[in-house]
Amino acid sequence: MKAERLPDGGAHDKCIMVRALESSDMDAFAEIMSLPRVRRGTLSVGYRSPEQLAAWYERRLKSGVNVCAVLDGCVVGHAGLEVHRPSRAHCAHLGLAVHDAYHRRGVGSTLLQALIDCADGSLGLRRIDLTVFSDNAPAIALYRKFGFVEEGFSRAFAIRDGVLADVLHMARLVDAPSLQTI
Ligand SMILES: CC(C)(COP(=O)(O)OP(=O)(O)OC[C@H]1O[C@@H](n2cnc3c(N)ncnc32)[C@H](O)[C@@H]1OP(=O)(O)O)[C@@H](O)C(=O)NCCC(=O)NCCS
Repeated sequence: MKAERLPDGGAHDKCIMVRALESSDMDAFAEIMSLPRVRRGTLSVGYRSPEQLAAWYERRLKSGVNVCAVLDGCVVGHAGLEVHRPSRAHCAHLGLAVHDAYHRRGVGSTLLQALIDCADGSLGLRRIDLTVFSDNAPAIALYRKFGFVEEGFSRAFAIRDGVLADVLHMARLVDAPSLQTI
């Protein structure tokens, strides 16, 4: 488990613990993925039961790293890397969500830094990519801060609140050769 001290002042002056997501966290995880801001910011359709998420978790255990953030004794966020198979084993897809009541308290940054440390330090990943709704300003700002850049976008990628929504594709590369085009 890794402890990060939040910036000084008020509610920020607390320790966020990062640890592996465990099968016993599925109730908390299901609650987070059903919250309005998390559902609006992710592809989560919400209302997944802990049993459905447990099945997802079992699959993800085989192909990646999943961590959660603990604050005040509660699971307040999740982040995961889904590592691809050869010949894309140097790549992973990132997912991230913070409990609606804990936004802007450093939780997302702490989770993202933990996964990047893991990706660079032990997994040897060279590419982390993600998909983000093109109007999700908080998430895009966070990803840019950690070195992710826009690679492109997809129109009408998902249905959100009954409306077709566009997404950005972003990636963080390590030691990539320069772009080759014809
Ligand atoms: C996006 C999300 C993960 C950010 O998590 P967080 O814990 O609130 O982020 P942090 O407190 O660590 O903020 C880190 C940086 O993100 C950016 N950021 C976060 N919230 C922001 C906001 N409301 N407006 C603008 N920038 C914001 C800022 O650059 C911030 O750095 P700063 O505080 O030094 O300015 C969180 O808002 C969330 O879970 N949203 C719902 C689900 C979601 O959208 N997930 C991403 C799917 S791709």
